[in-house]
Amino acid sequence: MNLPQTGSPLILAIDTSCDDTSVAVVRGVQVLSNVISSQESIHAEWGGVVPNLARRAHEERIEAVVQAALKRANTPIGDIDAIAVTYGPGLAIALEVGIRKAKQLAQQYSKPIVAVNHMEGHLLANIADLSQEEIRAIQFPVLGLLVSGGHTELVEMKDFGKYVLLGKTLDDAAGEAMDKVARLLGLGYPGGAALSQLAKKGVTGAVSFSLPMQRQKNNLNFSFSGIKAAAVRHTEAVAQKEHGTLSFKEKADLAASFQDIVVRHLIARSEQAITRFPEVKEFWLGGGVSANTVLRRRLRSLAKKQNIRLRFPSEKSLCADNAAMIGIAGSMRFSMGLTYEPTELPDRDPILELSTIRV
Ligand code: KG4
Ligand code: ZN
Repeated sequence: MNLPQTGSPLILAIDTSCDDTSVAVVRGVQVLSNVISSQESIHAEWGGVVPNLARRAHEERIEAVVQAALKRANTPIGDIDAIAVTYGPGLAIALEVGIRKAKQLAQQYSKPIVAVNHMEGHLLANIADLSQEEIRAIQFPVLGLLVSGGHTELVEMKDFGKYVLLGKTLDDAAGEAMDKVARLLGLGYPGGAALSQLAKKGVTGAVSFSLPMQRQKNNLNFSFSGIKAAAVRHTEAVAQKEHGTLSFKEKADLAASFQDIVVRHLIARSEQAITRFPEVKEFWLGGGVSANTVLRRRLRSLAKKQNIRLRFPSEKSLCADNAAMIGIAGSMRFSMGLTYEPTELPDRDPILELSTIRV
């Protein structure tokens, strides 16, 4: 197993993959600071992330966020061993801002750069603040379910840095589908968390949806666009039949039923994956949707039934986009010698371009 050596590296990490400007300082897997400057209010009025506005906001904020992360960690930049930065996947013009900043800092302070895959970061958010003993006790292979606004993936983690993509969404991501239905219900953007709040007041199953890809039992892929379209059709039909708009109860019922079908699809595929890998002892959940309490609850029951250990990020700030997870993945890669000198850094990391997650 590749573990950070004693005297774990001190990493300054940057993530500008979408609409959060985040910088963190970690020592190995210990999070010393994790500063997140959210752009939610900028994009909310447009109902989604506007790439140019995201880039501009990253450019305006990045230096202050770097300084805040160093200050909060009480760490002078000279002490840092390497700069880790998200290379992808993500919004290209947003990623570029972080990569440019990482290069500039690396050159100015003569530090190596570590290029990190954002999805590997989401997975490794699960080991934040674990002790060396706890990390050594992890039983590989681990199964990972990554659910965010851009991705829905099942991965087999053979070891740190060794991943096999088992399945992914063929259309929308789980978070993206929740956001679209939330928008339909007038809940703003991003609406996953608001949809899940409203769902508490509704009746699950009041609106019926069929489980996606039910007949395809031999693959571990996902599909959310069919149920999303069904939610739109339902809303239009109710609005037409009645008063032109949905009542609070109708909205809450749709929220509860939609959340339920999304979670049922995720659980069904997770159960299939666990059955396919009987040697697996651990299941890790990651990505923004991992904050969802219904998903967590049902995964807990599944893990209990299958007698495997379930982990999810310990704090909400480690579920959504953040640089601490990039620092943890960066620290692993640094310990494996996977660094670049700032002058040799390619515009895109070829390893990271092969697939969303490296094998
Ligand atoms: O990982 P993330 O912060 O960004 C991406 O890499 O995409 O994930 C954001 C997604 C959004 O779609 C958001 O609505 C969703 O995570 N999300 C939730 C919850 N909190 C955030 N979805 C369902 N329930 C939640 N509690
Ligand atoms: Zn993410």
